[in-house]
Amino acid sequence: MTRIVELLRQQPLGSVVEAQGWLRTRRDSGSLAFLELNDGSCLANLQILAEEGLANYESEVKKLSTGCALRVRGQLVASPAKGQPVEVRADCIEVLGWADPATYPLQKKRHSFEFLRSIAHLRPRTNALGAVARIRSALSFAIHRFFHEQGFIQVQTPVITTSDCEGAGEMFTVTTLSPEQMRGHNPFSADFFGQRAGLTVSGQLQAEIFALSHGRVYTFGPTFRAENSNTSRHLAEFWMLEPEMAFCDLRGDMAMAETMIKALLASVLAECAEDLVLFEQHVAKGLIDRLTQARDQPFVHLTYSEAVAELQRAGRDFSFPVQWGADLQAEHERYLCEEVARAPVIVTNYPAAIKPFYMRLDDDGRTVAAMDILVAGIGELVGGSQREERLEVLAARMSAAGLDLEQYGWYLDLRRFGSVPHAGFGLGFDRLVQFVTGMQNIRDVIPFPRTPGSAPC
Ligand code: 4AD
Ligand code: MG
Repeated sequence: MTRIVELLRQQPLGSVVEAQGWLRTRRDSGSLAFLELNDGSCLANLQILAEEGLANYESEVKKLSTGCALRVRGQLVASPAKGQPVEVRADCIEVLGWADPATYPLQKKRHSFEFLRSIAHLRPRTNALGAVARIRSALSFAIHRFFHEQGFIQVQTPVITTSDCEGAGEMFTVTTLSPEQMRGHNPFSADFFGQRAGLTVSGQLQAEIFALSHGRVYTFGPTFRAENSNTSRHLAEFWMLEPEMAFCDLRGDMAMAETMIKALLASVLAECAEDLVLFEQHVAKGLIDRLTQARDQPFVHLTYSEAVAELQRAGRDFSFPVQWGADLQAEHERYLCEEVARAPVIVTNYPAAIKPFYMRLDDDGRTVAAMDILVAGIGELVGGSQREERLEVLAARMSAAGLDLEQYGWYLDLRRFGSVPHAGFGLGFDRLVQFVTGMQNIRDVIPFPRTPGSAPC
């Protein structure tokens, strides 16, 4: 059995082929029926020509509707129709699964992405969500290939952890305690792990352990944040890619992130051309130019202080005021890359007060060796930094952040024993898929979005 993508690519004209998939449309014309079959392997459908001589023509073929699952055998022939090189003249059409047209929610017309979210179990069968799934897969594979070629090793960091990397208290608690047991004093001492545990907000701290034994490592997996952010770029469960490099400073960190993003864009532009055209035509005009430019042109560098000055000069009525010391909001980030740089922007040296404890304090004592990469349409795509490798400075920052130094003793040990300059970053994978597809809402680029109040399937 061959997948439709292969049939269309290889076009072994005259040979008998077999294809399976789900019916997109049926069109009758005299004694013929034209069936459009899609199996998810590519955007294009395979056209099947069903003639009235087929044994089940009247009894089944004429009753086929969108969503039915079929197995088709027939001869692959050149197609006289425009826009498709080949079609299959069917010898046999077997109906594997019917889909009642009265209740099947996907019809030929275009559905809104909001509606499709309500049918997470069927939306992968649409053009747009089908293409998103292929692009996600291609990007994921390209990530592993890139890091493999760069000599990184992949480390599987834990999903369940007792460390709150970002120190923002946004961890989901993992517990086996009943609501009654939760009420007592220090209930977690009797819990499964003997202490409070949660779902990871970042694999960075554990990745640092392996960077300080293997030099170049990365972790790529699901990440969880119980932040009540109902925006088009936040999920409660998202995928994050986190490389971590020993013997590396902020400059090396930024260079690696930019090289990697360019390599990923090059992969997806080369391998997913047909799917990208769909997004260019129906979702985001100018998308392919934007991706090509980001692949080919250097990113623009600004310090946080320069970015603030630029925003203050803008004469814009931002919803959030701009002042030195306040975090940049999505509207500011987008202004910087969409209006000022017209390219991805790397903002560095943020105020220490608005960044986590692990970032390396700059010599001015006010800022840290942080870098965020901002892109059009989204804002922050990457957050990274050089890590604080000096034991005393780190311990002081952790105390100031209210962390229990005993609990994080292992993290301090990494600075006690063979500490070296090191750096890393986190790339929000779903935001990358948003950037690559131009999709407006992050819920439409992940198979199963989890957001406040919503976790279907
Ligand atoms: O900037 P963040 O919080 O950085 C970290 O977690 C670091 N520990 C990473 C590191 O240095 N190893 O998150 C990194 C990226 C963001 O830039 C954003 O793209 C994405 O993760 N991200 C989210 N994506 C979707 N939904 C959310 N709620 C996200 N929060 C962060
Ligand atoms: Mg960040």
